[in-house]
Amino acid sequence: MTTMATNIVFHAGSVDGVERAQLLKQKGVTVWFTGLSASGKSTIACALEQHLLHRNKFCYRLDGDNIRFGLNKDLGFDEKSRNENIRRIGEVSKLFADACCIAVTAFISPYRADRAVARELHEKAQLGFIEVFVDAPLHVVEQRDPKGLYKKARAGEIKDFTGISAPYEAPEAPEIHIKTDECDVKEAVRIITEYLEQKQFI
Ligand code: PPS
Repeated sequence: MTTMATNIVFHAGSVDGVERAQLLKQKGVTVWFTGLSASGKSTIACALEQHLLHRNKFCYRLDGDNIRFGLNKDLGFDEKSRNENIRRIGEVSKLFADACCIAVTAFISPYRADRAVARELHEKAQLGFIEVFVDAPLHVVEQRDPKGLYKKARAGEIKDFTGISAPYEAPEAPEIHIKTDECDVKEAVRIITEYLEQKQFI
């Protein structure tokens, strides 16, 4: 049985968010990638992280497969587990953004409501949240199939597979929409970087 914490009191630090950003000369923000498996989330996230680090920006990437080796190793792919996966990542990315980091998250995050919770969490804390829809049609990602997972899902060897036997709810109003069957990685990084500059996050 799960127990909830009681008798807890939030303890504010001696440096607020505005002063922290001034001292560190960087504003925190989460760049939240969402899209089907093999849509290109991790590839673009890696390239973006590299680009920003090379510009001496404090940036850190949280990636679905990697986080599931550690923090979220107790979670599977049924709807409830994915809800919890994204809830935790929403909280963790908010902490990174609060530390004035550019948090780059690459999770399928298939449910609109879960992404909305992550956004709300950031906005309530006056932290930026940029949703990037990494969009590629199912027939394209199925053809790419770099890990052979779509093939296994079609053969019934993986259940609850996004796009095949589990839903993907595409964003209705993402800040950035990248069609990876039309746009290469370099161009995707350029588009996101330009957006970050326009909004004065970098
Ligand atoms: S989610 O939906 O946001 O909780 O998923 P995420 O944490 O991003 O993990 C997705 C990666 O897990 C692998 N994998 C699966 N994906 C989708 N459905 C099922 N059933 C599944 N089983 C394993 C897969 O490698 C995903 O990685 P990406 O990088 O998206 O291809």
